[in-house]
Amino acid sequence: MRVVYTVLFVLLAVVAGVTSLVWMRSGPSPEELAALDERLQAVLTAREFTGRIEEALETRLGRPVDPELAEVGRLLFFDPILSLTQDNSCSGCHGPNVSFNGSQPIEIGVGNNGVVGPERRGPHNQRRAPTLINAAFYPRLMWDSRFSSNSLDPFRNDRGFTFPAPEGSSLSDMEHLLGAQAFTPVVNRVEMAGETFEGDNDAMRAEVTRRVEGIDAYRRMFGEVFEDIAGGAPLRYEHIAWALAEFQFTLVRADAPLDAYARGELDALTPAQKRGAIAFFTGDGCGECHIVRSFGNEMFSDFEPHVLAVPQVVPTVTNMTFDGPGADEDYGLEQQTGSYEDRYKFRTSPLRNVAYQPSYMHNGAYVCLEDAIRHHLQVSEYVRGYEPSELPRTLRAPVGPYAAMLNSAQTLIADPMQLSEEVLRDVIEFVRHGLTDPDAAPEALRYLIPATVPSGLPVHDFDFDAKLGGGC
Ligand code: HEC
Ligand code: HEC
Repeated sequence: MRVVYTVLFVLLAVVAGVTSLVWMRSGPSPEELAALDERLQAVLTAREFTGRIEEALETRLGRPVDPELAEVGRLLFFDPILSLTQDNSCSGCHGPNVSFNGSQPIEIGVGNNGVVGPERRGPHNQRRAPTLINAAFYPRLMWDSRFSSNSLDPFRNDRGFTFPAPEGSSLSDMEHLLGAQAFTPVVNRVEMAGETFEGDNDAMRAEVTRRVEGIDAYRRMFGEVFEDIAGGAPLRYEHIAWALAEFQFTLVRADAPLDAYARGELDALTPAQKRGAIAFFTGDGCGECHIVRSFGNEMFSDFEPHVLAVPQVVPTVTNMTFDGPGADEDYGLEQQTGSYEDRYKFRTSPLRNVAYQPSYMHNGAYVCLEDAIRHHLQVSEYVRGYEPSELPRTLRAPVGPYAAMLNSAQTLIADPMQLSEEVLRDVIEFVRHGLTDPDAAPEALRYLIPATVPSGLPVHDFDFDAKLGGGC
């Protein structure tokens, strides 16, 4: 009997060995690989993708990044002194532990418990905080693109920057769109300012500036960068905004495998990722909205609003009034334009480093990258079958209505992107790895967290165990 088993075992081992050899052999042949590279290179050339956007930063800026100014910006970014309630900072909603995304599907601002991660508690605002990594290259900011550089170049202010009232075009003297943007979070009452301070936006910024100026370390550091401040001139909010923008210039992480590939390292992508990249960029698929050329700055977004009909997540605890008769909707761009045609429109998400996001879409409806991608191809099924069961408990109120939203997304539903399951897997693989710069991983950003900040207020508690969506 034992002999029979031994013979059987040996036979099995031989069969397994031969099968795995055949399997290995059945990968793409050198000729097939060469053809794949030829196609992908042609596609990338046609889309004007260079893989050199990261190194273009200082050329676009027209000067080197100033490390001293960026350092003041870093400390301010992490310092709750910028919050009139002193309980939040930029880093509270754009945490290094989640690659400068928000840690919650719908962000929590003032009234939080000091944690940045799944255990963050407090009233929810309305939307997910997108990553600040690479935001230096975005010609328009926010989910409804309401902050915009009129030249469609964030590095150029010659045609002005447009913001909603009351700022309007008044921030157009800032050097870069991010500097102009930095005027807004500190006056947002649900994000950083709170309800108790009396005064308009200018009064709030003046108060924040007064507090920062009152701290010796900040005055000294600003004095090292700006001669007039060293000479006794008063600090202005502009200085704070410049510093915050300068810090964000240091958050460019745009050297992903696709970039290396485009620069000629043909081994930087696997065959599956190459096939996925070709499908992504070919025809009227992903690459038509997630554009790379021209003002897309190789960021994979047209920065234009579209109705993707993402399920309407609703918090049980919020300090905002949601839209619609049931106060359970987000009308998106319509909030800015007042036009019904803009209802449910949100800008195309830039796609670099999405694998490091804890959730996806404007309201974090999905916690897995794969679901966010599959949603595009089966919109109706995904919306109708949606349950917020994977979201934090405080975001599990009954989801808002979807009929009107699906109706606006009609073309996607009637005429969905056609990808076979096999190709779709390759596309997911491409987005997950091909667009991911390892230097944007949470661990690679941990060094940016200061041990203490000049105000002496507590630095938030960053949870580095938060689950990221690229893994599922
Ligand atoms: C309460 C959480 C919160 C705080 C605090 C906060 N943000 Fe944000 N941030 C958000 C959310 C949410 C959005 C998107 C909002 C929208 O589109 O309606 C956003 C968007 C942005 C964007 C645009 C990014 C893009 O992809 O368009 C930038 C830049 C930004 N924030 C920088 C900052 C800076 C700098 C600070 C500190 C001065 C800050 N934020 C503080 C939540 C926050
Ligand atoms: C019609 C334009 C359009 C096309 C085509 C398109 N997308 Fe999108 N995509 C969007 C918009 C708009 C959003 C954000 C929607 C929202 O949050 O409401 C988005 C969001 C995403 C997200 C989530 C990113 C994040 O930060 O939350 C991923 C991933 C994504 N798209 C990948 C793809 C892939 C892969 C394809 C091709 C299969 C594709 N998209 C095709 C418009 C498009």
